[in-house]
Amino acid sequence: MPDPAPPRLKTRAAIVGCTGYTGFVLIDLLLRHPYAEPTYLASHRDELPDLRDEFPPLLGRLDPEVAVARPIDAEAIAQEADVVFLGLPHKAAMAYAPTLLDAGLRVIDLSADYRLTSQALYEEVYAVPHDDPANLADAVYGIPELFRNELPGATLVANPGCYPTAAALAVAPLLSHALVKTSRITINANSGVTGAGRSPKPHLHFPEFNQDYRAYGTIGGHRHQPEIAQTLSRVAGKPIDPLFVPHLLPVDRGILETIYLEPADPDVTEVELLAAFDDAYADEPFVRVREDLPGIKDVVGTNFCDLSVRLTEHGDEKTVVVFAAEDNMMKGASGQAIQNMNAVFELPETAGLL
Ligand SMILES: NC(=O)c1ccc[n+]([C@@H]2O[C@H](COP(=O)([O-])OP(=O)(O)OC[C@H]3O[C@@H](n4cnc5c(N)ncnc54)[C@H](OP(=O)(O)O)[C@@H]3O)[C@@H](O)[C@H]2O)c1
Repeated sequence: MPDPAPPRLKTRAAIVGCTGYTGFVLIDLLLRHPYAEPTYLASHRDELPDLRDEFPPLLGRLDPEVAVARPIDAEAIAQEADVVFLGLPHKAAMAYAPTLLDAGLRVIDLSADYRLTSQALYEEVYAVPHDDPANLADAVYGIPELFRNELPGATLVANPGCYPTAAALAVAPLLSHALVKTSRITINANSGVTGAGRSPKPHLHFPEFNQDYRAYGTIGGHRHQPEIAQTLSRVAGKPIDPLFVPHLLPVDRGILETIYLEPADPDVTEVELLAAFDDAYADEPFVRVREDLPGIKDVVGTNFCDLSVRLTEHGDEKTVVVFAAEDNMMKGASGQAIQNMNAVFELPETAGLL
């Protein structure tokens, strides 16, 4: 991946939804970024928060003029920013994106509103009408490792979901090298509690999830399943409908997915499987293909997705097992959003992330 020359001026970044978990991580990353800076933090609250009170780790780091959030005013944001990140719930993001785009801003949306290319599928999965089908058609799905060519100059980036990022990176090399069958792909996924956002919910109360571990949601019917299916189908060039089962891990951040697939050729070797991963990711700065098995402690706080692959034999059957670990708030959300910003503005893709 060639690194372009560093820019002379910093890219100015706004965040709408700056009081949420992804918003906090975005601010933190932008403050460390050599070629970008946070210039406008926007909130819908009547009483506008000071982000240093909201997130004490920002004390002494945020410019006092930026630290107090301002209203979500597209024209005002466009005066002070080149790009705006939407760290908002789905439905809220598409309420703001059109006016922000009309004001001339690049938009990187961390919600699900622009991820599914089919309006009908979005409306079925999220059970709300899609309010912005015109921009949906132009949104670029931002996994740089798979679809990098679409990012430079993009005006609207749909930042992928946390679970779908790990699943896509884990399975794509096997599909693109035709090493596995496209049926019976099973994704066993586990996420830390920040994956559910900062607003309080009874099952996310500390005594409820602490010392516990369980699957959740409608098994096979989680909202991320169609997004994973869409990406895997795009890579394979044919429909893929994986089984996806999420679990809540009693840790604050981190995702581990264990994915089971059937080899296309029963004589395939583990060396051939590994070669496909090396071929796909040898030059990728944020994907580490490992011989040992990754854990969430290896990736939390980083933008890496760590992958391992194994071929197992049981009876007459062979199974390909892929392990993927990432930080849900980094490669699964804000880290990938910064990586996408770097790609959109043709900055070095690793800037602010290593
Ligand atoms: N957390 C993760 O690991 C993760 C990973 C991948 C993708 N995502 C996605 O990223 C998005 C943000 O996630 P998050 O975890 O940061 O959520 P969060 O912690 O719940 O924060 C949501 C933010 O949106 C603001 N907000 C809520 N409703 C709004 C509205 N109608 N208008 C304007 N602002 C509104 C909130 O403001 P108040 O503080 O004033 O309520 C808060 O700043 C979600 O779509 C989520 O699915 C999250």
